[in-house]
Amino acid sequence: MSLRLGDTAPDFEVDTTDGKLKFHDWLGSSWGILFSHPKDFTPVCTTELGRVAKLKPEFDKRGVKVIGLSVDPIEDHHAWVGDIKDTQGVALNFPLIADPDRAVATAYDMIHPNASETVTVRSVFVIGPDKKVKLTLTYPASTGRNFDELLRIVDSLQLTAKHKLATPADWKKGDEVIIVPSVKDEEAKTLFPEGWRAEKPYLRYVKAPQG
Ligand code: BEZ
Repeated sequence: MSLRLGDTAPDFEVDTTDGKLKFHDWLGSSWGILFSHPKDFTPVCTTELGRVAKLKPEFDKRGVKVIGLSVDPIEDHHAWVGDIKDTQGVALNFPLIADPDRAVATAYDMIHPNASETVTVRSVFVIGPDKKVKLTLTYPASTGRNFDELLRIVDSLQLTAKHKLATPADWKKGDEVIIVPSVKDEEAKTLFPEGWRAEKPYLRYVKAPQG
């Protein structure tokens, strides 16, 4: 069965381009993003790994550890890393899991047989410090992901984990946020003493809290 929001992210022990690791221990108390790639030595995947390597400082700033996965063997991963540097102008600076027996791909339901029997789809799992799945995305092999969107998602998840707030469509850091419906006006007066802007009784905007 597929993983659902709020489920505990399955733990596993694997070999990666940074050596062997046990996933939950590696995550520690950080947020994590696990994302899969259909295959080594493929063009879209090569650009994706380069993009994430370039954005690594942004993930670090947010306390998020990133880790990729493909079902190819570790020897292939090591050879592919050179191509990523040559073509994307950046060295791989996060671990890439080798999953040749598909143990992780199976645990995370990353193989969708009606799309392909042999390779994973482009899955993304955002995992909280409590090891629970906070967000999933599934893209087909032919569509590269937008990793700026993933940073935006992390900003929203981290803000809404701390406050009784939600983020509206196309929200980005710095924009107004929304008071969640379960907070009635009486409680909102205590939580947001500076007040809010109500467009409807249920649509209440406030300035995003700092931190
Ligand atoms: C790619 O990463 O370029 C790719 C992989 C599998 C199918 C199509 C594209």
